[in-house]
Amino acid sequence: MHHASPPSPTLPINLAELEAAALQRLSPMARDYYAGGARDEITLGWNRRAWDTIRLHYRVLVDVSNRDPSTTVLGQPIALPVMLAPTAFHKLAHPDGEIATARAAAAAGAGMICSTLGTVAIEDIAAARPPETAAPLWFQLYVYRDRAITRGLVERAEAAGYQALVLTVDAAEIGTRERDAKNRFALPDGMTVANLAGTGKAALGPGGDGAAGSGLSAYVRSQLDQSLTWSDLEWLAGITSLPVLVKGIVRPDDACRALKHGARGVVVSNHGGRQLDTAPATADVLRPIADAMYGIDESCTVIVDGGIRRGTDIIKALAMGARTVLVGRPQLWGLALGGQAGVEHMLSLLRAELLEGMALCGCPDVASITGDLVDAAR
Ligand code: GLV
Repeated sequence: MHHASPPSPTLPINLAELEAAALQRLSPMARDYYAGGARDEITLGWNRRAWDTIRLHYRVLVDVSNRDPSTTVLGQPIALPVMLAPTAFHKLAHPDGEIATARAAAAAGAGMICSTLGTVAIEDIAAARPPETAAPLWFQLYVYRDRAITRGLVERAEAAGYQALVLTVDAAEIGTRERDAKNRFALPDGMTVANLAGTGKAALGPGGDGAAGSGLSAYVRSQLDQSLTWSDLEWLAGITSLPVLVKGIVRPDDACRALKHGARGVVVSNHGGRQLDTAPATADVLRPIADAMYGIDESCTVIVDGGIRRGTDIIKALAMGARTVLVGRPQLWGLALGGQAGVEHMLSLLRAELLEGMALCGCPDVASITGDLVDAAR
């Protein structure tokens, strides 16, 4: 049979298709690093499936002819309740790396949280956004044993215009991602932990033998501070004028401690199933955490990540108390497929699904996405 012309490429219709297409494109090492979770990848699967088990009790006969998905997070305006989660090493997905991601987020009015472990320095990422960009740009912090380095990162983030710090607290060690161990994960030639240039800590080569094969786990073990406690959160809050959020919380008591020790809020997260395997799905712990935190401080900020792949997942997260969601892996799938345009496509899919869900739930705006929309037990 003769085909006159090849079929025109069609854009992925949803984030699952985007992922499948991206997985074909990436090098095995990058693919496994991004896609993988810790050990048996149980939590990785739970994160996704937990959203599916929550039912939406939609309202009817509400005027939804105009829907507005905009909101505020930490007092900053955001065009939709979506931010890009801190994810490491974007150049593994596309040569433009974090520059492309940041431009896509800015174009969509979505927020971005830049990882300490970026392949582009935070100053260069900030400078790549159009100057009039209002969407949040925050910095995710890992605490190096060398506190002068840590302090330097905080000062640089402030100077470069980042508006909040997100302290990751679930990574005393890197949970073993067995795929990375087998691949002996390392940054390819020419890629570094760009924020650490000049400190002797920018190179990331392969790890050791067996389960210790990932260069990232070797890096974290040798460089990051395993002795971190709540008093270090107070230390951080004390050396910066920026609001501090704590990321990696799955328990109400820890969430309340975070507020007590100087945080303005938390990210309910298990690090995308990449740290402690069999940690609970974030959708299963969000509501009790949010209830406990708002009981202490109505104005605190609760954010959730982990398995958000549909507009309806965003609605469920907001109904259960989150002010915004973070989306991790899908940004990397978008990057792998089309650089900035790929990430913009991913965000436009989520936005369209969110608007559809708001229409069908009887929610003209974010304020009307309330707890009664989800099952009472949630
Ligand atoms: C880094 O934080 C990772 O999860 O790989």
